[in-house]
Amino acid sequence: MQLPPPPPDYEKRMPRHDEAPRLCGVGTDIFGREVRLSPEAAAAWLAMQGAAEDIGVRLLLVSGFRGLEKQTEIVRRKLEVGMMLEDILKVSAYPGYSEHHTGRAVDIGSPDCAHLTEDFEKTGEFAWLTAHAVRFGFSLSYPRVNVHGIAFEPWHWCLSDRRQSHA
Ligand code: DAL
Ligand code: ZN
Repeated sequence: MQLPPPPPDYEKRMPRHDEAPRLCGVGTDIFGREVRLSPEAAAAWLAMQGAAEDIGVRLLLVSGFRGLEKQTEIVRRKLEVGMMLEDILKVSAYPGYSEHHTGRAVDIGSPDCAHLTEDFEKTGEFAWLTAHAVRFGFSLSYPRVNVHGIAFEPWHWCLSDRRQSHA
């Protein structure tokens, strides 16, 4: 199934992202699958995870890099089970617009809640991230109120792109 195009105003609220040119393994995710991140994000993630671990905060890696093909499959599967594209785009980026393509985004879990749920906001891991992630260059991409039209994702943190922020 070919994906229908995104809405005409989509680019106004969601920036386009290229796939990372280089990726490094950072170990396995909670499902035992190898996770890859950009070299900068890999170093920052491992430093952040280690600092948290030192004080008993367990940042679990749920997801890292995913390419255009995987994102297309995610959106296509949701269409196939009858979801409307408009609703899908509140929780999944259209292929070409996901921060996960860059290898700088991580979905983070906690031992204290179901993964990829709003309950992550109530965990010690989220509280720690809110206070300390900025020190490692990570920020929350989709807070409750955001301009992207994406639902609240307390688990999704992205390493800032210094090339952009210094431009
Ligand atoms: N869940 C986020 C928006 C993504 O698909 O990249
Ligand atoms: Zn994510």
